[in-house]
Amino acid sequence: MSDRISFALNATDGTARAGVISTPRGEIRTPAFMPVGTAATVKAMLPESVAATGADILLGNTYHLMLRPTAERIDRLGGLHRFMSWDKPILTDSGGFQVMSLAGLRKLTAEGVTFKSHIDGSRHVLTPERSMEVQRLLGSDIVMCFDECPALPADKARIAESMRLSMRWAKRSRDAFGDRPGHSLFGIQQGGLEPDLRAQSAEALREIGFDGYAIGGLAVGEGQEAMFSVLDFAPDMLPADRPRYLMGVGKPDDIVGAVARGVDMMDCVLPSRSGRTGQVFTRRGVLNIKNARHQDDPRPLDAECGCPACRNYSRAYLHHVFRSQEIISSMLLTWHNLQYYQDLMQGMRVAIREGAFAAWEDAFHATRAEGDI
Ligand code: GUN
Ligand code: ZN
Repeated sequence: MSDRISFALNATDGTARAGVISTPRGEIRTPAFMPVGTAATVKAMLPESVAATGADILLGNTYHLMLRPTAERIDRLGGLHRFMSWDKPILTDSGGFQVMSLAGLRKLTAEGVTFKSHIDGSRHVLTPERSMEVQRLLGSDIVMCFDECPALPADKARIAESMRLSMRWAKRSRDAFGDRPGHSLFGIQQGGLEPDLRAQSAEALREIGFDGYAIGGLAVGEGQEAMFSVLDFAPDMLPADRPRYLMGVGKPDDIVGAVARGVDMMDCVLPSRSGRTGQVFTRRGVLNIKNARHQDDPRPLDAECGCPACRNYSRAYLHHVFRSQEIISSMLLTWHNLQYYQDLMQGMRVAIREGAFAAWEDAFHATRAEGDI
């Protein structure tokens, strides 16, 4: 295996794409879903269990890890992969987006962002240069540019100004990242719902040159219809021979719609977080295991799922352990939800390679519409 990261686009079907990203830590089959391991753990899951669901790559967070246990400590302990015992690829988000949604008292300047930790109120600074340093100390395989974006709806002037700042930060991120064989740097397109701003952002990123390109600033309150309207034009503005990553998305039907529009990678806390709140994704739609209607039900969550929750336990049992707040409830429901998401990705990868994506998509929606979960 080469020490460079490469992307092979193996099949297209309409605008949907299937390929493989090759890294020194292994291959990432695309379209790929990345489970979120914010604090050096996918909550309630052993890393080997995450791998068993079919995940090729995890997402980690600069913001959380720099605050606790700190990037310097993780570096001293051999890097994030060894620290959390996950030897496959890790992509890290760059921190700016999390500062805006999680930190207390923030101050945004051209230089970067100053903020107070949501953990202990201590003061910190993130700049493009510091974000690149933190992601290097973590040993991230795919490093994200430092960016920021407004929640939607927002004024076009505000979105434009924010996009231009993020593009200046993208250049500083590129310069600070340097040349690191085996590691790659992704740019992040911004520009809200505006085609002209999205085009300017894409042009700025292509000019700088990145190993992959993310679509940022979506799933921030605009709704699915608006998000899809952006995905109808935004992926095509990014280089076709590089991976395209839609950040922070989403529900199963968001993911299917994004893949249909040419997205290769996605991440979201939804399957893991929902696993802890009792929301379960199945081929027939969403159910809540807390509901009393499950208390005598001997059936599995999803008869077509091969995860331990579905192979070994009834809905009645899962209802019981959820109601009793037993830890195994989070473990089993998280495993199931992550398995569902990975099965969804695998189904799409196969369908795209077979040139049958449209039929697969129809079947996906039809099965969910049947209801009767
Ligand atoms: N996660 C979800 N959306 C975004 C975004 O626009 N930028 C970054 N850095 N992370 C995100
Ligand atoms: Zn299952």
